[in-house]
Amino acid sequence: MEDLETLRAELMSAVEAASDPAALEEVRVSALGKKGRVTALMKALGGMDPEQRKAFGQEMNRVKAAVAEAIDQRRAALEAAALDARLERERIDVTLPVRPESTGSIHPISQTWDEVVAIFAQMGFAIAEGPDIEDDFHNFTALNFPPDHPAREMHDTFFLPERADGTRHVLRTHTSPVQIRTLLGQKPPVRVLAPGRTYRSDSDMTHTPMFHQFEGLVIDQSTHMGHLKGCLQEFVEAYFEVDNVPMRFRPSFFPFTEPSAEVDIGCSRKGGELRIGAGDDWLEILGCGMVHPNVLRACGLDPAEYQGFAFGMGLERIAMLKYGIPDLRTFFESDLRWLRHYGFGALDVPTLHGGLGR
Ligand code: DAH
Repeated sequence: MEDLETLRAELMSAVEAASDPAALEEVRVSALGKKGRVTALMKALGGMDPEQRKAFGQEMNRVKAAVAEAIDQRRAALEAAALDARLERERIDVTLPVRPESTGSIHPISQTWDEVVAIFAQMGFAIAEGPDIEDDFHNFTALNFPPDHPAREMHDTFFLPERADGTRHVLRTHTSPVQIRTLLGQKPPVRVLAPGRTYRSDSDMTHTPMFHQFEGLVIDQSTHMGHLKGCLQEFVEAYFEVDNVPMRFRPSFFPFTEPSAEVDIGCSRKGGELRIGAGDDWLEILGCGMVHPNVLRACGLDPAEYQGFAFGMGLERIAMLKYGIPDLRTFFESDLRWLRHYGFGALDVPTLHGGLGR
């Protein structure tokens, strides 16, 4: 009986001393587990005479119950303390100012790209694409650039190393090769817009070695220059968000169109500020024309049956005009301050009914 009292005292102080749930569990196993000290004494009951066993057994059960209860209480106390500590540690001061959020923005190139696509999609144009690395046929020959014609040099072409067959691929100098790929791949009627990257060995305030263009191509049996004019008028007014923009076609030359024209829109430059659609000044925005019969022939089409128009414009140029960006090179410098200033909201997707440039 005395041993029992000592055991009880020992176990109780071990329970009190357990400073975390793992230590407490060890105490529990060493006392009440299968090989625990209390369990061992219970087994010893079997060898006692009935009188002794009754008295000793009752006392044993008391000790066992007392120890079990002490363990439960200690566990509850440890858990409560752990929760308090965690609440203290994870306390949130809701009065603190919020952390600054670092939101990205949409690059003016992407924004302008989406705006132009939205406008032409509304007019029923499909989007067409071609590779950045082109062969001479698609970039020049099929577009009616004669061999050794100075226009090939005009583009300041980046040539790739000579291949085994003696030919050299190029970084496409314009998006016009997508006209060829489209006409070789599908039968008219064709109505596509081809946005993409283009390359020329050129670098100053208004030229970068890589830039973007949009190519438009419409081919059908009776498509004429009036359609071209209407289409561009529609585009210019939707893009610049100004009604009744004056527009003029100036005769020009491109190997792949006949007749060819450059398109100017009316503007004013009073006080150094450019305003589209007002005033008596002109601003050149794109090149266009009726697709040359040789281009149609190169694509297996009979010019007596099919005709149509094409146009091409610089994406950066029209972005600069609309958003007042003075230097082309800044588009590609990845200057965060510039991006924050000229960038667009990521969730502002341009649509004709929702609004284009915000
Ligand atoms: N490819 C021409 C250039 O890069 C732009 C161009 C002019 C495209 C007239 C056309 C067009 O489709 O009809 O200078």
